[in-house]
Amino acid sequence: MTEHFLEEDYDLAHLEVTPGQPGGSKPVDLPILHGTMGPPVLDIRLLYSETDCFTYDPGYTSTASCESKITFIDGEKGVLLHRGYPIEELAERSTFLEVAYLLMEEDLPTEEAFRWFNQSITLHTMVHEQLRNFYSGFRRDAHPMAIIVGVVGALSAFYHDSLDIHDAQQRLIASHRLIAKMPTIAAMAYKYSIGQPFIYPQNDLSYAENLIYMMFATPAEPYKVNPIVAKALDKILILHADHEQNASTSTVRLAGSTGANPFACIAAGIACLWGPAHGGANEAVINMLKKIGHKDRISEYLKRAKDKNDPFRLMGFGHRVYKNYDPRATVLRKACQEVLAELGYKHEPLLELAMELEKIALEDSYFIEKKLYPNVDFYSGIIFKAMGIPTSMFTVLFAVARTAGWIAQWLEMIGDPSQKIGRPRQLYTGHTQRNYTPLDQRKP
Ligand code: SDX
Repeated sequence: MTEHFLEEDYDLAHLEVTPGQPGGSKPVDLPILHGTMGPPVLDIRLLYSETDCFTYDPGYTSTASCESKITFIDGEKGVLLHRGYPIEELAERSTFLEVAYLLMEEDLPTEEAFRWFNQSITLHTMVHEQLRNFYSGFRRDAHPMAIIVGVVGALSAFYHDSLDIHDAQQRLIASHRLIAKMPTIAAMAYKYSIGQPFIYPQNDLSYAENLIYMMFATPAEPYKVNPIVAKALDKILILHADHEQNASTSTVRLAGSTGANPFACIAAGIACLWGPAHGGANEAVINMLKKIGHKDRISEYLKRAKDKNDPFRLMGFGHRVYKNYDPRATVLRKACQEVLAELGYKHEPLLELAMELEKIALEDSYFIEKKLYPNVDFYSGIIFKAMGIPTSMFTVLFAVARTAGWIAQWLEMIGDPSQKIGRPRQLYTGHTQRNYTPLDQRKP
């Protein structure tokens, strides 16, 4: 971490806390820290020692867990910046590997730096040959997320030369290995699920081209990667690369704060991403659209989404931070139409249904009032499907992309001198202390 947020002349927030303990209220002055963008924060690190009080914020709706320079989101304006560069520009003009470098190394690479990074990633795309044995332990119908969470965690059993998180060189090698091997591990999970042989990466292919090649090539004949599909996949990977302190990134940081090795931390992030409220939503959107089936049934499902007694939610809608359009959804919506046209789709019923659903939802007072807009997952599944990628692989591809962000955030956390092991407190509302009752004396 180069410079800190703390300057001498920060503001103070005066708090009178009356914790109900003897001695009445305790005045406390809390520093207000200002970043370069976004809301200021109340520095509450001394709150407990000064007031005997915790703060209470389940879901961390108002809590900053760290200082970061990687990604900035303005949820009200629908702005997403990576190291200051707008996501729209990166999606249009950059490549996923260049964005991965930007996230990790703090700025866009020079030609020479990118040549070095690209070469390093390329030379780490193969996995240890024995890692292949892990796949045969799974049922063929295992969800690929179940496979990759296990295989990525197992990488720490193979790469003992890059487990020491206090060694900068080992951190770098582990980071490059994870970014490089995720496509290979992901493609192997897909091949295993369809009973086809694993395909080795090709060093003359780009990152996205290799992922497609390893998923769809067979040893039986030459396979040419469709450049339209490769370009679309690279753009989708950029859009999913990082997103501030979301649930899976916070999981990676929390795991990393204990000193766990990077492979274990990324496996933890993959497990967290799988949830349908998070990265699993792209798969859930397609399943939802298939269930709705026809635009005449949209109102029935919107009614369910608004019914508090119905667990159904409109998948691909809503976001903890965005209270405006998710800028990634805007880019994906446009890319969706372009890719479908380029691939020769005269019409894609799921896309038409999705656009009709979006139109109706955005005119509905419930969605307007709660500021529920399409998020990154609403359109990604439709493009994946048009590219021939099976639904069960959607979240896997999200994990491939997000590994770049998880790594960047993990490296930043390790390099932060103020970093401590993450250990939240709680508001305890359980039994007060009581004595053990022997079994023969317990009343029904
Ligand atoms: C991702 O954090 C990130 O950055 C995540 C992500 C990333 O790149 O890492 O952007 C990726 O996870 C995107 C989100 C994908 N998930 C979905 O599309 C699943 C559907 N969305 C919801 O489950 C929900 O919107 C969340 C989980 C995304 C956000 O939930 P919050 O912030 O906890 O909001 P909330 O549940 O408190 O909702 C506020 C209100 C509630 O109503 P009230 O209790 O106030 O009456 O809005 C309602 C919710 O019931 N609501 C929805 C809804 N989302 C919120 N109602 C119907 N359908 C929805 N989709």
